[in-house]
Amino acid sequence: MYSFSEITDPVAEKVKETWIKYLSMEYRFAARMRNAPESFLKKLFAVSSDPSIISFAGGLPDSNLIDVAGIRDSAACVLEEEGREALQYTTTEGYLPLREFIAERYRNRLGIAASAENIRIVNGSQQCLDIIGKIFIEKNDRIGIERPGYLGAIEAFSLYEPVIKSVDMNESGPDMEGFEKLVTDDKIKFFYGIPNFQNPTGRSYSYDARKQIGGIVGGSGSLFYEDDAFGELAFDLKPRMPVNKFAPENVITSGSFSKTVAPGMRIGWIMAPPEIISVFDTAKQAADLHSNFLCQKILDQYLRNNDYDAHLKRVVSVYHDNCMLMQDLLDDMTVAGITHTSPEGGMFMTAGLPKGLSSMKLFEDGIKNGVAVLPGIPFYAGDGGDDMIRLNFSNTSEENIKEGMNRLSEIL
Ligand SMILES: Cc1ncc(COP(=O)(O)O)c(C=O)c1O
Repeated sequence: MYSFSEITDPVAEKVKETWIKYLSMEYRFAARMRNAPESFLKKLFAVSSDPSIISFAGGLPDSNLIDVAGIRDSAACVLEEEGREALQYTTTEGYLPLREFIAERYRNRLGIAASAENIRIVNGSQQCLDIIGKIFIEKNDRIGIERPGYLGAIEAFSLYEPVIKSVDMNESGPDMEGFEKLVTDDKIKFFYGIPNFQNPTGRSYSYDARKQIGGIVGGSGSLFYEDDAFGELAFDLKPRMPVNKFAPENVITSGSFSKTVAPGMRIGWIMAPPEIISVFDTAKQAADLHSNFLCQKILDQYLRNNDYDAHLKRVVSVYHDNCMLMQDLLDDMTVAGITHTSPEGGMFMTAGLPKGLSSMKLFEDGIKNGVAVLPGIPFYAGDGGDDMIRLNFSNTSEENIKEGMNRLSEIL
């Protein structure tokens, strides 16, 4: 915001007048915007950019692990060899060779009968959340989500005014009785879940839970939205069986290159049954015509010219070390009564706070003392979450984890 008192020159005077006009307007926003939770992410990004604060609150991958040189070479190659095409408009579906790369990886890595035909490229997998919300949710429709669940999904779906029903996220997946009830009694349109290294808890569904979920949604009118943003970040590099395998006709899958290659490219994908893809295309075209074509081509070139698996191995090794260190230091804090989850991959874990301690208070005290943690509240579609915090271990260093945990321990 401008500091009006310091404005002296005439152009700035005009800007000031305009701003005063803006501020006196009452815009008639759609009622659905009142249901949108206040964006916690905005506040978060503000905190993440203050260099004096050691932040475990954000959700970024480690910038040092982005292969800038490799991406630069791929960009140069694309621009040199097919620049005019890459800078043109393209089709909504996305770049076919990139979709084929994704399909082939699904087939080879997970044994899923994937084909480029039912894969679409999106501007980050966050866009899938919005479009799936748009094409499926009518006002007051029931949908399901994990409790705690990904706050970006809660934000995206809330704009379409559903009734959000949550099911506790246990060590081995969502509470199965609760899940089944949502499908059979509430007839939810879909359940949104993250079977691999969930955001925020870092927990994963067991094989049995995946199979059971497939069995419950298969043949029902409900869908399972399988967000696999972190699936490639398993510390042991081993693939986990997707729910998709057990009920492909009832599962929408999304994936992302944000956590593995570079989030700034904004490239993710959706894989879904053809009928859903066809409706998805209509909504995607209305939203943005197509995803950034230049980045799609650069990414495709990058994936073909570099050893993607070797790159993932480097990324995962750093995240694994960071995660273990953070867990060890949290274990040393047992005096304060703190508990934590034990992720097998991904970028996040959650810590349960000692009785009576509020995560909001810890957030505020943390900021004053140079360490940021993310309160659990925005991860709950209803009440709850003030007794836990989310900790990010990907975008930090060994030194910062030690110092940050030290500061946290003192505050506790
Ligand atoms: C679980 C989950 N899904 C989706 C996204 C969106 O990521 P992107 O749009 O960069 O693919 C995120 C981002 O942090 C996430 O944590």
